[in-house]
Amino acid sequence: MAVLVCGGAGYIGSHVNKQLYKEGYKTIVFDNLIYGHREAVKWGRFVKGDLKNMQELEKAFEGNTIDAVFHFAAYAYVGESVQEPEKYYYNNIANTLNLLHVMRRHGCNKIIFSSTCATYGEPGKTPIMEDMPQNPINPYGFTKLAVEHILKDYHKAYGLEYVVLRYFNAAGADPDGEIGESHAPETHLIPLVLDAAAGKRPDIKIFGNDYPTRDGTCIRDYIHVMDLAQAHLLALRYLENGGKSDCFNLGNEKGTSVLEIVEAVKHVTDQDFPVILAPRRTGDPAVLVGGSEKARLILGWNPQFADIDVIARHAWCWHQAKTY
Ligand code: UFG
Repeated sequence: MAVLVCGGAGYIGSHVNKQLYKEGYKTIVFDNLIYGHREAVKWGRFVKGDLKNMQELEKAFEGNTIDAVFHFAAYAYVGESVQEPEKYYYNNIANTLNLLHVMRRHGCNKIIFSSTCATYGEPGKTPIMEDMPQNPINPYGFTKLAVEHILKDYHKAYGLEYVVLRYFNAAGADPDGEIGESHAPETHLIPLVLDAAAGKRPDIKIFGNDYPTRDGTCIRDYIHVMDLAQAHLLALRYLENGGKSDCFNLGNEKGTSVLEIVEAVKHVTDQDFPVILAPRRTGDPAVLVGGSEKARLILGWNPQFADIDVIARHAWCWHQAKTY
């Protein structure tokens, strides 16, 4: 069975690609390599191309019957999305319409879409459940919510079957050390703290310690990228078995504060480094923790790497030996 992995050279997409390949799927990775890494595509076939160019996309479909598409390809810098919304609306929404168009032309009617907890905005309560209101507070979150709505409409009108996966904070790396997280620029907490531990940056800045949380710093629900990968495989099987189109949160249902992440990294790496208090970062909600019961019950999802020390250790191993 052949599957297309759009954005499969990126952080989460590359881990899903590896797992799909290991499970015997024939994978075709389609990526423009703007943020993705060619070195991360060690499995399956690679087609370089951009979703804005339908001819390039056609090449990925040529010579294969694609049974399902995984769609990771998106810009994902929240701050940049506020400064340059047009870039986000074109890439994340308009280019997704191209993908759906080409899928329809080829009779491919299954998609697994990467959405985000950012679609919920400032949640009224935690844990966040799938049926709670979605009011994104930045263009990035809005683009993901817009695609969720598009998928619903295409389902009704054209019979497209979809699974929307709303990730909380993806973290960690492949335990085999073959692939991992590598963003340029890097804005995410764990890789930045690892940089401080490795002496690649002088310190780590804590963006605000006056939030209404147990230690004053923001709380997030960190979920291991391998557990995310497992959920994608289960979502594909779910659709193959006739499961109904639906949305699922993917998190550990466990909140970890910024300071707790710093402590975990110090412990795992056995390194000390300066921790500097800095002003709040605009648009950061105090607490984002998701309820993932639905994914557990319906998809049979069973995350294996919930321990924050394990997440930090796998990320550290990758960070020390990283090849891209
Ligand atoms: N943080 C710091 N110092 C840093 C970097 C981050 O204190 O140098 C804090 C942030 O303020 C935040 C927490 O660490 O409280 C986590 O920040 P990340 O940037 O690692 O992750 P976010 O929670 O901001 O972002 C993640 C995803 C986004 C998604 C968002 C939804 O990366 O794609 O969750 O809120 F949109």
